[in-house]
Amino acid sequence: MTAHSLIDSQLGYYRARAAEYDSTFVPYQEAGLPAALERLRAGNIRGEVLELASGTGYWTRFLSEAADTVTCLDGSPEMIEEARRHGLANVSFQQQDLFDWTPERQWDSVFFAHWLAHVPDENFDAFWSSVRKAVRPGGVVEFVDVTGEARRLEQQDAQQPEIAVQRSLEDGRTFRIVKIFREPAELAERLGALGWTCEIDEVHPGFLYATCRP
Ligand SMILES: C[S@@+](CC[C@H](N)C(=O)[O-])C[C@H]1O[C@@H](n2cnc3c(N)ncnc32)[C@H](O)[C@@H]1O
Repeated sequence: MTAHSLIDSQLGYYRARAAEYDSTFVPYQEAGLPAALERLRAGNIRGEVLELASGTGYWTRFLSEAADTVTCLDGSPEMIEEARRHGLANVSFQQQDLFDWTPERQWDSVFFAHWLAHVPDENFDAFWSSVRKAVRPGGVVEFVDVTGEARRLEQQDAQQPEIAVQRSLEDGRTFRIVKIFREPAELAERLGALGWTCEIDEVHPGFLYATCRP
């Protein structure tokens, strides 16, 4: 499967999983939450905030407390529907494929959780170039993701074990999605080469938190 078909398959997977996402993912997210929240609440996230791949709004709730406004982009209308249920007054939503995204305005802070591991290497630079366009001068990008420590929770894909895993839904359907475990030092170096200065720490086993400035 090419990376292109994998990214189609992963959006299809998240669209189909939206209604069951929280019951399966929240226990996993919560392990790293206290450490991640300490960083999220450190004061960098403020003003007008852009959240990418916002999903069911798990992190949106915390961003909305720190921000004046939050603009959420996600490729799945079903995920957006779930996130709207939080009823947060300062949050708005747009359906957007992040592999075909050119920001038309800028924000003070950009945040994404558990998204970068779904970005194939060949899309990495273009994605960060779009992120760069979305950040105001003096702004910041923060993200949460997994490290290799979390690999044991996944079923590695038989054909492309380095870049893909297999996921199943409650109804038994299976999907192949991109999942690339990048370590803090490797990410900081790669982003440094693209002109970002990042502080990236494994704040809990398997969870990294990054603060990056252009
Ligand atoms: C692992 S979930 C993360 C959701 C949320 N940030 C969280 O941490 O709970 C990945 C999210 O990426 C979205 N997504 C998948 N492919 C996408 C694409 N091509 N463009 C935009 N969003 C996409 C999915 O709909 C899903 O909401």
